[in-house]
Amino acid sequence: MGEKREFRPKGQLERFWLWIEKIINQITTSAYNPFYYLGAVSIFFLWIILITGIYLFLFYNITARGAYLSVQSLTVNQWYLGGIIRSFHRYASDGLVITMLLHAARCFTLDRYKHWRWIAWVSGIVIAWVLIAGGIFGYWMVWDEKARYVATLSSYMLENVPIFGLPLSLNFARLENLTDQLFYIVLFIHFSSIFFIFILILIHIVRVTKAVINPPRLIGYGLVLVLFLISIIKPATSAPPAELKTLPELVPIDWFYMFIFPPLKFISAHGMWAFIITITLIVAIVPWLTRTKKTPEVEVTLENCTGCELCMEDCPYQAIQMRKRTDGLAYPLEAVVNKSRCASCGICVGACDYKALNLPDISEEYVKDTVRRLCAELKDAGVDKKVIVFACAKGAWLSGKADGTGKINGYEWARVINLPCIGMLQPSMLYIPFEKGIDGVFVAACRQGDCSYRRGTDWFMGRLAGFRPPVVKKSIDRARINAVYLSAVETDTFIANLEDFQKGLKDRRDA
Ligand code: HEM
Repeated sequence: MGEKREFRPKGQLERFWLWIEKIINQITTSAYNPFYYLGAVSIFFLWIILITGIYLFLFYNITARGAYLSVQSLTVNQWYLGGIIRSFHRYASDGLVITMLLHAARCFTLDRYKHWRWIAWVSGIVIAWVLIAGGIFGYWMVWDEKARYVATLSSYMLENVPIFGLPLSLNFARLENLTDQLFYIVLFIHFSSIFFIFILILIHIVRVTKAVINPPRLIGYGLVLVLFLISIIKPATSAPPAELKTLPELVPIDWFYMFIFPPLKFISAHGMWAFIITITLIVAIVPWLTRTKKTPEVEVTLENCTGCELCMEDCPYQAIQMRKRTDGLAYPLEAVVNKSRCASCGICVGACDYKALNLPDISEEYVKDTVRRLCAELKDAGVDKKVIVFACAKGAWLSGKADGTGKINGYEWARVINLPCIGMLQPSMLYIPFEKGIDGVFVAACRQGDCSYRRGTDWFMGRLAGFRPPVVKKSIDRARINAVYLSAVETDTFIANLEDFQKGLKDRRDA
C-alpha cells in the first residue's frame, strides 16, 4: 500500500460558508435548505421562465411599432394574469442569476470544482454567458427606453467584433431604420437561448449520476410564493417607449443582466471585450490553476468481482461501468473504473460486499485493521462503555479534539476512524466493534443534501434503514448504533451527541 490518505482540515472561507448554511439549517432544517439545492433551484427558475415566456409570446407583436404596445397592453389591461406572468418571467430571471452565482460560488468555496468536476465547471461558465446574453435580448423585446439603451450599447459591442463590422447601432438612431426582421431575430435569439441552456445543462451534468434536478416541493412552493408576492408588490413594468432622438442615459437598469453596459462610459468596446474574455478564461482555468494532488483512484480486484452492479449504481460520478467478463469467470459482467471520473471517495467500496474494490491509500483491509486495533486499545484501556466512531472526514471534523491516533482528548472511552466519505462505511466494517465487545458505534455523516460526494449520506442512511444493499443486518441492536448528520462546523454538536449516546449506553446497562 502506498501513502496513507491525509484528511485536510477546512479553510477559513469554507468554514464561513458552512457556518452560514448552519444558520439556515436552524430555520429550514437540512431537508429544505435551499443552499443544498442551488443547481436544482436554478433549473426550477428555468422552467418558470420557459412557461411564462410561452404565455408572453402569445401576446407579443413582433414589429418595431407594435412590440412596446403589446407588452404594455398585457401589463396594464391584463395585470391580474398577463402582468403577473410578466413579473414572474422577470423576477425568475433575476432569481436565476442569483442562484446560479451562489451555486458557482458554493462549488468553488467548498472545493467542488476540480479534477473529475471540470466539465461541470467549464460548462457552467458557458451557461452563465448564454443566460446573460439571452436576458439582454429579452430586454430588447420590450422596446422601451431601457430596451433602446441595451440595444444601442449591445450593438456597439457587436459592431466591434470583426465578423459584424457594420455600424449596427445606427439602426437605433432613426425609427425608419428599424425593421420587423430585426425583432424576429431578437425574438429568435431570446427564445432559443433558453433551449440552448437546457442542452448545456445536459452536458453540465453528464458526469453526475442521478443529478438532483428538482428541489424539494416545499422549496418550489416557497419560491412561487415569493415570486408572487414580489409580482404584486412591485410588478414588472416598462419604461417610456423608446425615443429615438437621444441616447437614454438615465434609465434604471437591471444590474443582473446589464452590468456590462455602464462601464462603457469609461472604456471602449474593445476594452470591454478584452476584459470579458480575460475574466472568462481565468475563471474557466481555475480548476487547473488551483489544482491539488489527486488521491489515487479505486482499483478493481477482478477475481472478487461478481458483476452485481451495486458499485455502478452507487458511484456518484459514473466512474464505474460494467462490461462483458474478460477473465472467463461464470459471472456475465465485470466492473471497470474510468479513472478520470473517479473521485476516490470510496462510495463503491461501501457498496461492495466482496472486496472487489479498493482505494490504494485507504483500503478496506486498512480500515478494518484500524478498527480492530482501536477496539483492542479501548479494551486495554479498561474503560467503561466503549464507543467506536466512524466519522466522515468532510463532515464534523475533529480538528483540535482528535489527535490523529483515533483518540479524542478527554474522551478515553472513544476512538475515531475517519473515512473519506461515510458512503464508504460498509456494513462489515460496522460489525467489527460489536464482534470485539465494544458497546456502541457512533457514525458522523455529512448533512443530507450536502455530501461532498453527493450521495454518500443517502446511501449510508438506506443501508442502515435496511433498504439499500448491502444492508446492515437486522440482528445488530440499533440502540447500540447512533448516526448524526452534521457539517464540519458542528463539532460541538458532534461531541454533545457522542456524550449523550455514551451516557445512554450506560443508562441501559444500569437499568
Ligand atoms: C443555469 C445555471 C446552472 C444550473 C441550472 C446548474 C445545475 C446544476 C446541477 C443540477 C448540478 C448537479 C447537482 C447534483 O446533483 O449534485 C450541478 C452541478 C455542478 N455545477 Fe451547476 N448549474 C448551473 C450553473 C453553474 C455554474 C455557473 C457553475 C460554475 C461555473 C456550475 C458548476 C457546477 C459544478 C462544479 C457542479 C458539480 C458539483 C458536484 O459535483 O458536487 N454550475 N449544476
